[in-house]
Amino acid sequence: MTKKIGFLVGSLRKESFSKKVATAIAGLFPSDFEPVFISLDDLDMYNQDFDDENRAPASWTTFRETVKDMTGFVFVTPEYNRSVPAVLKNALDVGSRPYGQSVWDGKPGLVVSVSPGALSGFGANHHLRQSLVFLNVPTLQQPEAYLGNVMDMINEDGTIVEGTMTFLKTIVDTYVAFYEANKKA
Ligand code: FNR
Repeated sequence: MTKKIGFLVGSLRKESFSKKVATAIAGLFPSDFEPVFISLDDLDMYNQDFDDENRAPASWTTFRETVKDMTGFVFVTPEYNRSVPAVLKNALDVGSRPYGQSVWDGKPGLVVSVSPGALSGFGANHHLRQSLVFLNVPTLQQPEAYLGNVMDMINEDGTIVEGTMTFLKTIVDTYVAFYEANKKA
């Protein structure tokens, strides 16, 4: 089976640090993995009525079909008010419904939090993990990936500094082994 890793970034910002980190992570995967960036830019907000009344917006249908095709996930997120940005939480919610048809179930995940601050997005990282427990996304536990003071990790051209790349390579290699051990049958 093709190993398609869905990348979900919790920021819509053009110059997002999280997007730059996610791009670097995608480039570190072995060639038998296919990183797929899943845009959240136009994903409508979840409203249970639309599922109950069988009138899901086109953006949900596209999103659900795309995520369904993935075999694993990388979540790269900033922290908003000590939690997960709404855009990413909304994506989890949309993908989790209709009831019993979650597109997340059983697919191994990696969580990376990013912040210009020293606390490294710890709150977002762990709130995200809380939802992933319920969604049955087995998530790499160690090494944890908290990228604080992220401005110091990004070069002027948007690439990531060498020391951080070495750390991210360790993260990706460990996730790849974790993926192989936990992938959905
Ligand atoms: C923030 N930011 C922020 N940072 C942090 O470390 N902890 C936090 O709780 C918050 N809260 C927060 C709320 C809102 C609404 C905004 C817009 C921002 C700052 C945030 O980390 C910073 O803007 C990052 O640059 C956002 O990530 P991207 O867009 O660069 O990926």
